[in-house]
Amino acid sequence: MTILVIGSVNADLTVQAARIPAPGETVLGGDARVSAGGKGANQAVAAALAGAHVALCGAVGSQSDPFRLPALAGLKRADVELSLLHTLDAPTGLALITVAAGGENAITVASGANARFGPEHLPADWSGLTHLLLQQELAPAVTREAARRAHAAGLTVILNAAPAREMDAALLAHTHHLIVNEHELAALVGRTVDQDELAVAAQSLLKLGPGAVTVTLGAQGSLTVTPDMVYRLPAHSVQVIDTTGAGDTFCGVLAARLSGGDPLPQALHWAGLAAGLACTRPGAQDSMPSWAEVVEAEKLR
Ligand code: RIB
Repeated sequence: MTILVIGSVNADLTVQAARIPAPGETVLGGDARVSAGGKGANQAVAAALAGAHVALCGAVGSQSDPFRLPALAGLKRADVELSLLHTLDAPTGLALITVAAGGENAITVASGANARFGPEHLPADWSGLTHLLLQQELAPAVTREAARRAHAAGLTVILNAAPAREMDAALLAHTHHLIVNEHELAALVGRTVDQDELAVAAQSLLKLGPGAVTVTLGAQGSLTVTPDMVYRLPAHSVQVIDTTGAGDTFCGVLAARLSGGDPLPQALHWAGLAAGLACTRPGAQDSMPSWAEVVEAEKLR
């Protein structure tokens, strides 16, 4: 069972501050920290930590790029297969992150090599793969083409629609399981969605292709709809330090557990638990729990 993640690889440059600056404002923060990030790389690491065999297809800058090594450190540590990683003539992706006292963040991504990754960099051979995990930090044409080819090759396609951006019908048509947060759900349905309308809004997306839609709700847990069930999962209560990478942890662990054969409610449970733990430590990949920590947390619940 091998999961292929096609997505972004970034170095994260993070500053902790009392609050996120308003437009035009300067806020003094703590020391800057460079760590491994990028939604694609984060989800690959989360899936690998949850026990899956994972390969990542993406792009970084050359050996002389100062952010290449920090961007790849977490992937190497988690034993993610990197034979499909491309080195392009562009800077490694860099995310500028401010984390506020309550754990909330604001992120600006300088995409660099991620933006130069084209359909020509997609794998030629899809054999031996069971699941494809996608996000939206690569060019829309790449994500759409990856979903189309994976679907045609018989893979299960899981799409995390983060960050929210324009999505065309073909991408949704090739997606088996869609994962969105409330903002991304609102962007997809084209209107604000009240709490009591979440299930109806998510169900409306089932008509466009996915067989399951999960809405992640932060401290409120998650909601998943399929044609025959609505499943609400409360969040594991934690002390939040930094939410960076929590959504990626959810997606990676969900993909890993589904690829390992867990029924959907069970896989969602593990994903929510791991995502909660990821909020208790700073960083994206640095905050992700080992599988032993997830199992331990389950025993203590
Ligand atoms: O989802 C968190 C990630 O978003 C960060 O690691 C950053 O690199 C951006 O891609």
